[in-house]
Amino acid sequence: MSTKLQEYLKNETALLKEEGLFRELKTIRERKGAWVDLQGRKVLDLSSNDYLGLALDPQLAEAFQQALEMCGTGSGASRLISGNMSPHEELESAIANFKGAESALLFNSGYHANTGAIPALFGKGDLILSDELNHASIIDGCRLSKARVVKYPHKDCTALRKLLHENRDFEKIGIITDGVFSMDGDVAPLPEIVEIASEFDAAVMVDDAHGVGILGATGRGTLEHFGLSSESVPIQMGTLGKALGCFGAYVAGEEKLRQFLINKARSFIFTTALPPALAVAVKQAIEIVQNEPSLRERLWENVRFFKEGLKDIGLDTMQSETAIIPILIGDASQTMEIHRELLKEGVFIQGVRPPTVPKGKSRLRATVSAAHTREDLEFALGAIAKVLG
Ligand SMILES: Cc1ncc(COP(=O)(O)O)c(C=O)c1O
Repeated sequence: MSTKLQEYLKNETALLKEEGLFRELKTIRERKGAWVDLQGRKVLDLSSNDYLGLALDPQLAEAFQQALEMCGTGSGASRLISGNMSPHEELESAIANFKGAESALLFNSGYHANTGAIPALFGKGDLILSDELNHASIIDGCRLSKARVVKYPHKDCTALRKLLHENRDFEKIGIITDGVFSMDGDVAPLPEIVEIASEFDAAVMVDDAHGVGILGATGRGTLEHFGLSSESVPIQMGTLGKALGCFGAYVAGEEKLRQFLINKARSFIFTTALPPALAVAVKQAIEIVQNEPSLRERLWENVRFFKEGLKDIGLDTMQSETAIIPILIGDASQTMEIHRELLKEGVFIQGVRPPTVPKGKSRLRATVSAAHTREDLEFALGAIAKVLG
């Protein structure tokens, strides 16, 4: 390695450590329900996005195993070469049907979907208005697009309308928002955004990574939660690795959107297709989401119980409306210290720091799941009260 590069690594690493921002991987050996073996210790996981506990569902494992026998472990090529297999297309139809859209296109992850779809749809001469708390993959997709990108204050529709009044000389306009904000757990004001978009002929894109499977009477996500039609949000993105318990992502919308992305989204074109067996497992997950509402009911009951418990301890859970429940601390180093103290008590709640959240807004990001029992949550609240109360 060149000496200049070595020096750079050393200095940057030292700086991260000094600022309390150095990140390290933790190794989980085994999962059993909501409990994990973390580096040899059994701890309660309140950090996973597996909101319905589907990642360990035996029905998904069985579907996966059966499909492995038929299709093997890998697709062997990109979709446009020889990697396009019937499980991919069957899953796309199932997603389209579930989302009430004409069609859907799979991507290998949410990160791929946002960094592929956004620059395919928007470019030089276009304007993108993006909520300031949007996920990093949206930010990166916007950067890649070469469009003019303007952030609007979080969920502020007055500011959004003002920006649209002030910025008229653009070819196309996109408004992009998380459906459920990944670090705050609040929900975008989608009906107002849709109304404003129609006034200014802007296209709305929603990233429903944390909404799909969770929100709405049948788990279809943020649009269903608000009773919005899929026509009002022409670009619906979502992930398959959170509530659906698997891996991958989709963009749903009109068939012409799908055809266009197949031709133009570089992160779709230049990558090996998802393992087909995984597509079979996701399809099974969508069926469970639709047929077993009791999972969602248990999740929301757990959310209510845990949030009330945190309020009783006197903690600030910010504006959370979902299973993502932040506990605001502020200072980055202090947040990580509390995270470590909680681990000692057997409770795993990840601390999140800049650049994931703004400076001074470091927090513990707790996530509740349908896999948590009442005793699990009581145990967690006891530990939190001991460390933070
Ligand atoms: C809002 C949001 N969008 C996109 C992603 C990326 O999805 P994936 O993990 O599938 O890459 C995430 C989380 O990882 C997210 O929270």
